[in-house]
Amino acid sequence: KATASFVVVANRLPVDRIEHPDGSVDWRTSPGGLVTAFEPVMRRHDGAWVGWHGAPDEELEPFDNDGLQLVPVPLAAQEIEDYYEGFSNGTLWPLYHDVIATPGFHREWWEAYVLVNQRFADRTAAVAEQGAVVWVQDYQLQLVPAMLRKLRPDLRIGFFLHIPFPPTELFQQLPWRDQILEGLLGADLVGFQVSGGAQNFLRLVRARLRQETHRDEIRTSDGRTVLARSYPIAIDAKELNDLAASEPVATRAAEIRHDLGDPDVLFLGVDRLDYTKGLLARLEAFGELIEDGTLDVEKVAFVQVATPSRERVEEYRQLRDEMDRLVGRINGDIGRIGRPPITYLHASYPRDEMAALYRAADVMVVTPLRDGMNLVAKEYVACRQADDGALVLSEFAGAARELRQAYLVNPYDVNGMKDKLIEAMNDSARNKARRMKVMRRQVAEHDIDHWASAFLDDLGRTGPHA
Ligand code: G6P
Repeated sequence: KATASFVVVANRLPVDRIEHPDGSVDWRTSPGGLVTAFEPVMRRHDGAWVGWHGAPDEELEPFDNDGLQLVPVPLAAQEIEDYYEGFSNGTLWPLYHDVIATPGFHREWWEAYVLVNQRFADRTAAVAEQGAVVWVQDYQLQLVPAMLRKLRPDLRIGFFLHIPFPPTELFQQLPWRDQILEGLLGADLVGFQVSGGAQNFLRLVRARLRQETHRDEIRTSDGRTVLARSYPIAIDAKELNDLAASEPVATRAAEIRHDLGDPDVLFLGVDRLDYTKGLLARLEAFGELIEDGTLDVEKVAFVQVATPSRERVEEYRQLRDEMDRLVGRINGDIGRIGRPPITYLHASYPRDEMAALYRAADVMVVTPLRDGMNLVAKEYVACRQADDGALVLSEFAGAARELRQAYLVNPYDVNGMKDKLIEAMNDSARNKARRMKVMRRQVAEHDIDHWASAFLDDLGRTGPHA
């Protein structure tokens, strides 16, 4: 089929093209929460997925992958530098995450962003059938809604931002702030993770573009109505629960604990290696707890999985070096033979291995400095078969709005985190079960299907369309 009635547009396809040194080619699941969340959505809605395949300078024909129609968008090496590593991940990513790192404002990066967004819009216009529903994803493609509307006024266009939408005073640093707002306003529905994001957006649209708003509706000067609402993203909870309950995963979980020397308490962190994730402060807190004698190195272990991410961006390189140093120092200072307190894995693992890790862990540590949602927190909860285990969760993750029964922490407060890790570890089995039950219900009921239908139902009610 050359065209589709449902089209998802995201910077990445769900699979990355990996070329091995011997010239052979493999496809591997792409990193990050967006793909985790969207794969099940696409499996249920027959449609096309427009996105980049992760390799430079490679023009590929549309192809089928597991029944999904994938439409590759090529990026030249220079565009990867300017649009992807530059404007997307050197400007927008830090700006939207509380300027934890300093955003760079470079005109060449912006120009590449405009050009690549136009290419995504063109490809999408070519595959969407008359009156199709098009769902554009995330910060890399904020200009696509307006560009697409111009090409194809017949389409119903939704946009969802997977990361935080920043406070207005931070957003206004951006030299191209009005263009971004106008780009987003091309959609019929603009979705955010939390209501604060939608509020920030509405405020900016009023103040900067002088558009009228009424609650969550924007009346644009060209006579359209645009909705701005929050839709906290979720996971395929049942699928993950069933995977975690399976015999091979249970066996693997026991094996992991055994390999770690059967610790009394296993702490776990799972993140992309990203400076927004609060990795350093978290491991420092853990290291200090051993150093000051609160935890016994013979009895506890911390496994930190840090998936490689954006490795050519300077801040990510620096973080990698700092992690190597910190883990080396902690393990060198306080480790015993056969007992490195931290097992640090700079790699990505298949889903069944992740499910086994979640099952094996007593205390899950999710302490980002800022995070749109954080699906790892929800994945841990979905894997807990016996309502045991404890989730330590940053107040600054979107997930903290829903998982109120987690042990909530300020990730900037190392002492506070130390206290919380101990509290979570020592809480009674009864309290832990009570908390976990509530969270498991929340995650099971508000799953990815619920999320997608909430968004698509609202999108379906927008209009009228040409
Ligand atoms: C986050 C973003 C996604 C992105 C993912 C992985 O989840 O919201 O848009 O795809 O990180 O990052 P990467 O730069 O490797 O695509």
